[in-house]
Amino acid sequence: MLPPIADRFVAGESADGAVAHVHALDDAGIGAIVNHLGEHYDDPADARADTEEYLRLLERLPATDPPATMSVKPSQLGLGVGEDAFRDNLDRIVEVAAATDTFVWIDMEDHTTTDATLRAYEALADEYDGGVGVCLQANLRRTPDDVARLADTPGRIRLVKGAYDEPAELAHRGGAAVDEAYRDLLRRLFAETSVGIAVATHDDAMIDLALELGTRYDRDCEFQMLMGVRERRQRELAATETVYQYVPYGSAWVSYFYRRVRERRENLRFALRAIVDS
Ligand code: FDA
Repeated sequence: MLPPIADRFVAGESADGAVAHVHALDDAGIGAIVNHLGEHYDDPADARADTEEYLRLLERLPATDPPATMSVKPSQLGLGVGEDAFRDNLDRIVEVAAATDTFVWIDMEDHTTTDATLRAYEALADEYDGGVGVCLQANLRRTPDDVARLADTPGRIRLVKGAYDEPAELAHRGGAAVDEAYRDLLRRLFAETSVGIAVATHDDAMIDLALELGTRYDRDCEFQMLMGVRERRQRELAATETVYQYVPYGSAWVSYFYRRVRERRENLRFALRAIVDS
């Protein structure tokens, strides 16, 4: 059993909880991005076990509107073991997902994984004609180049501020610099690419800018937020926009929950505000 507070951010320890949550979101017109918690595996058997879990999950995801999706982490699928192991496991998942028209997101981890993650994304986006998406992080200085590189790849890009504590030579540090980078990247995504755009943030200033850019460029985008954070705002936005909620589940919830709190001082405030404001 998940303790209270954790069960606000995590849908349960097994897929049953995640599936029940997907149904509840569907009643509110919100789509699900289901993630089985797990990361940083060194043992190929662990990466294979999580791959199997995703394949079982694919059989259980209910039909919803908007359609349920999944999100996987490269280090969970074996990137720490080697790029080939990661690619083999991801390929298996995407192949089965494509057969049921289930969209697969690839989370982005720290900067040491970016190149391998983008290589995997580009290969699969071409092979499955846009059935996959990848996360890009506004805090990384390289991301404008990555947006240009992926501008016409047939897939979706999820733009986030970035959850990892990166060195200053590689990343903008501090809220204002990251916010400015996020705004700039949103403009580039709308003005200079043909990709599907997912605006993953709880920040109203970024959401408002995305809405404005959508009108200006006559383009749709989807909004994504985390389970347990600003859920009232998610429901309001879903009345007029496509909204997805990231739904983690699994027994490895402790690291998901505490990492957000530990990694950065702002994230402690973030976690506490989520509890107070939702
Ligand atoms: P931030 O934390 O800066 O908050 C901005 C503002 O939003 C606040 O000042 C406040 O106004 C408002 N706000 C935020 N929380 C609030 C609350 N609870 N109540 C009221 N107002 C609130 N990261 C990564 O590195 N790789 C990844 O793959 C992903 N994937 C991912 C998927 C999805 C769907 C989301 C939503 C996020 C991620 N992230 C991620 C995490 C991301 O990088 C980032 O750490 C968090 O989303 C927090 O950043 P925000 O953009 O929400 O803004």
